[in-house]
Amino acid sequence: MNKTITGFSKLSKLEKIDWLVNTYFKDVESAKSLLKQYWNEDKKIQQRHDEFIENTITNYYLPLGVAPNFLINDKIYAIPMAIEESSVVAAASKAAKFWFDRGGFKTNVISTEKIGQVHFIFKGDSSKLKQFFKANKPKLIEASKSLTQNMEKRGGGILDIQLRDKSQDIDNYYQLHATFETMDAMGANFINSCLEQFAKTLREEAQKFELFSLEEKNIQVIMSILSNYVPHCLVRAEVSCKVEELTENSNRSSQEFAEKFVQAVNIAEIEPYRAVTHNKGIMNGIDAVVLATGNDFRAVEAGVHAYASRNGQYSSLTHAKIEDGVFTFWMEIPLALGTVGGLTKLHPLVKWALELLGEPSAKELMQIVAVAGLAQNFAALRSLTTTGIQEGHMKMHLMNILNQFEATSEEKIILIKHFTTHTVTYSAAMEAINNLRK
Ligand code: MEV
Repeated sequence: MNKTITGFSKLSKLEKIDWLVNTYFKDVESAKSLLKQYWNEDKKIQQRHDEFIENTITNYYLPLGVAPNFLINDKIYAIPMAIEESSVVAAASKAAKFWFDRGGFKTNVISTEKIGQVHFIFKGDSSKLKQFFKANKPKLIEASKSLTQNMEKRGGGILDIQLRDKSQDIDNYYQLHATFETMDAMGANFINSCLEQFAKTLREEAQKFELFSLEEKNIQVIMSILSNYVPHCLVRAEVSCKVEELTENSNRSSQEFAEKFVQAVNIAEIEPYRAVTHNKGIMNGIDAVVLATGNDFRAVEAGVHAYASRNGQYSSLTHAKIEDGVFTFWMEIPLALGTVGGLTKLHPLVKWALELLGEPSAKELMQIVAVAGLAQNFAALRSLTTTGIQEGHMKMHLMNILNQFEATSEEKIILIKHFTTHTVTYSAAMEAINNLRK
């Protein structure tokens, strides 16, 4: 059977589904009805989702959970999290509660600058290019006025444009390296539109520049695109308390806990194998909030991991210390987020999530997201350095195992109770189900 098709995007949704199930599935009817089961009954909502991307055939659910009791700069938040991993929301909630009783999270936005680049080839005398750039920089900005007007009214716009000579790395390669302030927008469209205008002006003005030879006039633009590496769009989140407040037990065990915790962070600072997993745990919290608030988690992931390697070796995003009897745990990360534009007004659940957070500005959202990451890392390291991770993980995973065995509600109640006093493993769960069903 021919498994390729031309004009797929032109088919109606039902025609697409028919072609797919008939071409790729054994049980055509159940494959089709499953897709339809996930359609939203509300036609308007479904149409929204259909139109987010091309070739939508159905919706793909992820749970939206909430971690309440986050105290951030003396304000209380319930944080929405969209994620499939069973233990993440529970861990965030636990960490929120823990720090609620110890002064909460302190955060601040360090900087909010975004970056975009026009990459181009200039064959000729670089000193003439510098002269050209100096003479034409105001024109580059001026020609973008229609694009920047609105952003300027909101307090943002183009911050600067620099000419960067990269011809040492690639023959004749140069950049316009531009910085932007995009206020409450993530700014990708704004930045990319400005860059494409810079590229156009660059080419046009080069043609007119008298000092350029014919070859020099012919600037070749390779591409114009924002950078998802935003090391100057930084937020800091921190928790701290006296060491003896860290556990309910004796002072000695608090000290031991704090020291082990700091060691665990130190290990992630110097050992890339550990750092990747350590930071993955941080991203469990970050991605979940980024996704729930309709932001671009791939952009955040790419930028955060690049930042984690900024000193030449991949390293921990968080840091911890004990000084004068005080335990401090903190993180600085780059986050380019928006609370206007993009999906924020379009996806009904994103709108809901932003209202839950009190309609935050982009800066406030950066702080909330950073806290979710720090809290997640705290919870993971707390488990790892005390009970081990599997205890909590498997408890949360129990429901997935029970669902795999299609446990009934009554069976679930009995088995969840059973496993409050027994260690959860896959085989232990299977045995307990079988015993119950005997
Ligand atoms: C699992 O999703 C995340 C952890 O592995 C993070 C960590 O090891 O720090 C628990």
